[in-house]
Amino acid sequence: MPFPATFLDELVARNPIEEVVGSYVSLTRRGSNYFGLCPFHNEKTPSFSVAPDKQMYYCFGCGKGGGVINFIMERENLSYPDAVRHLAKRVGMEVPEDAGHRENYRRRERLYALCKEAARFFHEQFLAPGGQAAREYAAKRGLSPACLTRFGIGYAPDGWRNLLEAMKAKGYEEQELLDAGLIVRKEQKGNAYDKFRNRLMFPIIDVRGNVIAFGGRVMGEGEPKYLNSPETEIFSKRRNLFALNVAKKTKRGYLILCEGYMDAITLHQYGFDCAVASLGTSLTEEHVKLLSNYTKELILTYDGDAAGQRASQRVLNILEKTNIRVRVLKMEGAKDPDEFLHRYGPERFERLLQGAESQTTYLLQNIRQKYDLDQDEQRVGFIKEAAQMIAGLPSAVEREVYGGRAAEAAGVTPQTLKTEVDRIREQRARQASRRQEKIDLSPMTQRQPKIRGEQYHAPRSSQAEEQILAMIIQEPGLCDEIPLEPEEFSSDLLGRAYDALREVWRRGGHPDLNTLAESFSAQEIGHLSSVLNRWDHVVSSRAIKDCVEIIRGHKKASQVKSAEDMMDYLKYIQEKKGLGANT
Ligand code: CTP
Ligand code: MN
Repeated sequence: MPFPATFLDELVARNPIEEVVGSYVSLTRRGSNYFGLCPFHNEKTPSFSVAPDKQMYYCFGCGKGGGVINFIMERENLSYPDAVRHLAKRVGMEVPEDAGHRENYRRRERLYALCKEAARFFHEQFLAPGGQAAREYAAKRGLSPACLTRFGIGYAPDGWRNLLEAMKAKGYEEQELLDAGLIVRKEQKGNAYDKFRNRLMFPIIDVRGNVIAFGGRVMGEGEPKYLNSPETEIFSKRRNLFALNVAKKTKRGYLILCEGYMDAITLHQYGFDCAVASLGTSLTEEHVKLLSNYTKELILTYDGDAAGQRASQRVLNILEKTNIRVRVLKMEGAKDPDEFLHRYGPERFERLLQGAESQTTYLLQNIRQKYDLDQDEQRVGFIKEAAQMIAGLPSAVEREVYGGRAAEAAGVTPQTLKTEVDRIREQRARQASRRQEKIDLSPMTQRQPKIRGEQYHAPRSSQAEEQILAMIIQEPGLCDEIPLEPEEFSSDLLGRAYDALREVWRRGGHPDLNTLAESFSAQEIGHLSSVLNRWDHVVSSRAIKDCVEIIRGHKKASQVKSAEDMMDYLKYIQEKKGLGANT
């Protein structure tokens, strides 16, 4: 029996590759990656790399690579299921394989189904005649009908046993309703009754689309304002974020983190489809881990008051150790995004987003605090470190602005700082171009899979195919967007990998090398790791389009067998104005 996707996701999330590999190999951090001596072959200079953002390792020397599961398979010489067991043991997770554990998983599946039924029930009640007051309250809060549907907003009727009876009629046991946190029973022998009564219901849905819990709001004033599901077997508020199931598909390139259900929903309603909310807790390390699967940039929208600032600071501290960039959005004239949007409209919020204070300011302040700028030596240290940071900023405007600030702080002219920044940038550019040259000069044979029967026979097409895979791994949501079918790939190996990754995504998992560990050989995974390593660029719709053109163009050309095909092909080429003709 294959391991359930939910289990594997959690297993991989709880075994960060840099940590697992780090316990075998001494790793040194360089930029966002780690390097060390390869544990799979003898070497004196490190060519073994670990990339936490891609959750993979790769050795430039021997070509071994993969995800954390592969690493354990190779290093401990274990089969796939044994490597999974090994990692589960490492973090104290139960493996769903013996009868008892399988039973556990069956129970969990039942709980998911029950919560889904309950959400359906609440939503029906919202639309039914008895839901009048709830509909009025939702309207008063400015929620649009489309948004109510998208988030499956519901109504828990007043009364003690509405949900209880409805779910029993569907075949669920009281014990299951208790386990799902939907009903409560005060004493062992006492009567059970609905937990949520006369409340507006917000279903909480995990990234895979399962309903796992609810938040229920009093309609108007009352205590408690929100009633939330307790922690259950399927719900942990430390590990879930409200609306991430929708926001993970955003094209905005960042996520907005806010505090409340209403904030997230209203943001979505106004077109900010990248909003998520923490569930009445402060952001945890688990949340961050989860977020890092879907975004590289997070915008915080905390209150401008002291408590809000402390909360932002805490989040910034947690995020400092990750590759996620943060900006803090300062709202004035409203206590939360919901209120802001209704009061000032989306355009003004959009402007706030653009002006959100950058993490760069924050970083610069951090560097500044390390030095005593009254001492010359320390000032030199500050200038050097600040210049290193500023040299990494992508835009010239930013470098100018922050360079100016750093110069002012150090009491030197902006030109002095700029000279230092330029020097660092030139040095880095030289290094990068040397690396690129090596790649460009490395003959095709070096990029070929070193696996029998898997040679690339269409160099340009297979390069485009490699890029497509790299992009999917960086941004899994692309699986829904890229129009290619696996059969269109010129390389069988790359086509199979594409197919498998897409399948994982469609089944609600997170596609990465670990998800391929079961059905691909170590050699194949090694080659795929080298592929991911090679294409380390930012995803753009332009790049996707180009790759698709190249792959399709090649496919067409390779199908030309008759004169008729030839005519078709020429027509195709003309349509594409020559694009793809030179594969
Ligand atoms: N919260 C909670 N229990 C409470 C109060 C708050 O769980 N008694 C959580 C909820 O997830 C809520 C979030 O904290 O969404 C933020 O609280 P708050 O700002 O008070 O609520 P809003 O989401 O702004 O709701 P509303 O606009 O309806 O007042
Ligand atoms: Mn609010």
